[in-house]
Amino acid sequence: MYSEAHKSYDATNRLLSFNTDNIIRERAAEALLSANPLNVLDIATGTGDIAILTATHAKEKGLRTKVIGIDMNPGMLGVARQKAARNDVKNVVFEKGNALGLKYRTEYFDAVVCSFALKNFDSQERFLKEVRRVLKKDGIFVLIDISKPEHALGRIGFWFYMRYMELFGFVTGKKLYKWLPKSTAEFSRKEFIKRVKEEGFIEVKVREYLLGISYMLICRK
Ligand SMILES: C[S@@+](CC[C@H](N)C(=O)[O-])C[C@H]1O[C@@H](n2cnc3c(N)ncnc32)[C@H](O)[C@@H]1O
Repeated sequence: MYSEAHKSYDATNRLLSFNTDNIIRERAAEALLSANPLNVLDIATGTGDIAILTATHAKEKGLRTKVIGIDMNPGMLGVARQKAARNDVKNVVFEKGNALGLKYRTEYFDAVVCSFALKNFDSQERFLKEVRRVLKKDGIFVLIDISKPEHALGRIGFWFYMRYMELFGFVTGKKLYKWLPKSTAEFSRKEFIKRVKEEGFIEVKVREYLLGISYMLICRK
């Protein structure tokens, strides 16, 4: 799906999210940098937006933060590397890696982020265990995704939003935008948050955007 979508991924994101994805990414970078981290990991970084934003803001704040963005898809990583080079961002690197088997040592990162990728993973449990393993004690974990909102207005908005995405998938013929509405409808945010707590994460906070269709989860190890 991502090999097919990587070239137009950024432009499509802006269009499908009415540019709110950028606002959420800014909030995520703020949350990650609130603890003045030295090492940050962006899991399933895609075209690298959060990794680059976090690295850029860290530099502006005079922090010595280093960001690593990992992804399984070479096409997405290629776009991320080009973007970092074009913007002269030097405190970020992009590496091939699997969210379900991280190659980094235990308790290496001060902060870990993962955006709009959770439903791609075969095992949420394995993913959460890996995040917890590589995080230092008190380290921050930020997760962003879309899900079906709880309240009625949000559910109406969600229904239209999913049809909008399906229509986009139909017009462009891209599998990703046909798969996303289906996987999002099947996903339970409540169940996921329960699992996050069961895995031992604490101080779990949820912020909602776009009528609750997008959410950001912030917690600590
Ligand atoms: C919807 S994109 C999200 C990209 C980016 N985080 C963003 O906010 O735009 C999902 C990404 O997850 C990656 N991915 C899927 N499964 C993965 C895995 N097991 N390990 C690492 N990356 C994975 C895909 O290659 C894709 O780039």
